[in-house]
Amino acid sequence: MDISSVGVVGAGQMGNGIAHVFALAGYHVILTDVNEAALTNAIALIDRNIERQVTRGKVSAEDKAAAMSRIKTTLVLAEVGPCDLIIEAATERETVKQAIFEDLLPHLKPHTILTSNTSSISITRLASRTDRPEKFMGFHFMNPVPVMQLVELIRGIATDQETWDAMHAVVRKLGKTAASAEDFPAFIVNRILMPMINEAVYTLYEGVGSVKSIDESLKLGANHPMGPLELADFIGLDTCLAIMNVLHDGLADTKYRPCPLLTKYVEAGWLGRKTQRGFYDYR
Ligand code: CAA
Repeated sequence: MDISSVGVVGAGQMGNGIAHVFALAGYHVILTDVNEAALTNAIALIDRNIERQVTRGKVSAEDKAAAMSRIKTTLVLAEVGPCDLIIEAATERETVKQAIFEDLLPHLKPHTILTSNTSSISITRLASRTDRPEKFMGFHFMNPVPVMQLVELIRGIATDQETWDAMHAVVRKLGKTAASAEDFPAFIVNRILMPMINEAVYTLYEGVGSVKSIDESLKLGANHPMGPLELADFIGLDTCLAIMNVLHDGLADTKYRPCPLLTKYVEAGWLGRKTQRGFYDYR
């Protein structure tokens, strides 16, 4: 299965990183979003982030220029339909993702592979609403996408072997490493990472430690590159809460109960770095 063109739906934090790594790996990328400013910002950010790699001698100036020329943007979702591979990286809400796939269906080529960068939503359920559940799977990148080595590949109940093998080959071409996961709530990374972050919020909520002491404990005591509360701010507290809810609902176990303090921060609109306020104040 020859994949050369890639459609990325959603130009936010994950979508722009995904467009970045595919363009650098030689793929033709069409990036789409409903918001024109999001597309403009994404191109500026990709340019800045690849420039960072040029400055550090990891990418040549010629490769940067070639990668940038391989990225096109559009406000028209249908224009990504003819791509060989489509990666949905829109808001982490099932209704939004379903609507995108439904709108795309009439524009797809028969061989097009559909994937979702969802961090926790059922791949099998998303796939069942399309005309090609056998060519549908989870394709979950980590943030920041250009830096993180791992990609989770998630097999829906109907994903066929040809699609599965083709996506493993794509991950190799990106120079990343795939972790294979079965389709259960939050897959592997977030099944383990989010309860840890939630527990860190409980540790704060119960007054066991301060934000600083909790983060320093994990950074200096367990060699994590970021403390769990700093990481929660980086990921987005709304995303952390949404994933905890998927775990809690999907696995029906009280050990996944979201910490009330996490819920309160989200209700306050303190979502972390993106709103300039979370466990830390970025204003
Ligand atoms: N694009 C390109 N390069 C980038 C970049 C970006 N967006 N962000 C950082 N970099 C590069 C830097 O240029 C630097 O490169 P060199 O190694 O060549 O010097 C390198 O990454 C490290 O960056 P910094 O020196 O600026 O900062 P740092 O050393 O503090 O590292 C970090 C920053 C990579 C984010 C590090 O703190 C880290 O690994 N944090 C943990 C991140 C993590 O756990 N991510 C997963 C979140 S979970 C997830 O994504 C799944 C989900 O569904 C929620």
